[in-house]
Amino acid sequence: MTAFKELVGIEAAKYVKNGMVVGLGTGSTAHYFVEELGRRIKEEGLEITAVTTSSVTSAHAEHLGIPLKNIREVESVDLTVDGADEVDSVFNGIKGGGGALLMEKVVATYTKDYIWIVDESKMVEQLGTFKLPVEVVQYGAENLLRHFTVKGYQPTFREQDGKRFVTDMQNFIIDLDLKKIEDPKVLAQELDATVGVVEHGLFNGMVNKVIVAGKDGVKVLESGK
Ligand code: 5RP
Repeated sequence: MTAFKELVGIEAAKYVKNGMVVGLGTGSTAHYFVEELGRRIKEEGLEITAVTTSSVTSAHAEHLGIPLKNIREVESVDLTVDGADEVDSVFNGIKGGGGALLMEKVVATYTKDYIWIVDESKMVEQLGTFKLPVEVVQYGAENLLRHFTVKGYQPTFREQDGKRFVTDMQNFIIDLDLKKIEDPKVLAQELDATVGVVEHGLFNGMVNKVIVAGKDGVKVLESGK
């Protein structure tokens, strides 16, 4: 739904003000947010500094002339706008479809106002239909795959062009086919405590706003926190 993705990307860019440090998400929806920021810088003289969540987004932002810093150079990020793969009604979500979950979670962690932009197909009652990405160190990754198999998580290594996918941080991704995640917080705790897991795609209650586009237009949902 390209039109919906573009709508939410443009809507989210309205929250960006002069002087802000802005986190740029990754994926086909965040792409439109980055495009709109590029347009505002060029046509409206918007002055911002951005940090990015992947090498793909960095290349896109550089192409558009958006001034970039490394996350290590900023104390905090005023606003980050990113896509998501699934979002439930209490703002837990799955991210990492584009393989950028680690950088995305680092940037989100240091962000004051965190916004997701999605089309309505991403809003779900229960997380888990989308395979949960887990970023793992390369050393012992096969052992971890066996561990997840024994747990019944139906894991697979992510591949790209017939080869194992390697993230910007030089890790592998194991996708877990869970079908239904009964308790995202309990699963997050389990994965956080699993040796070899660098990060997982459960972003539980981190986001402040979700901007959703659908056939009835654009809605801004605010978290209760
Ligand atoms: C990348 C992500 C993306 O934000 C997520 O996969 C949504 O992507 P898209 O907007 O292309 O559907 O988490 O790691």
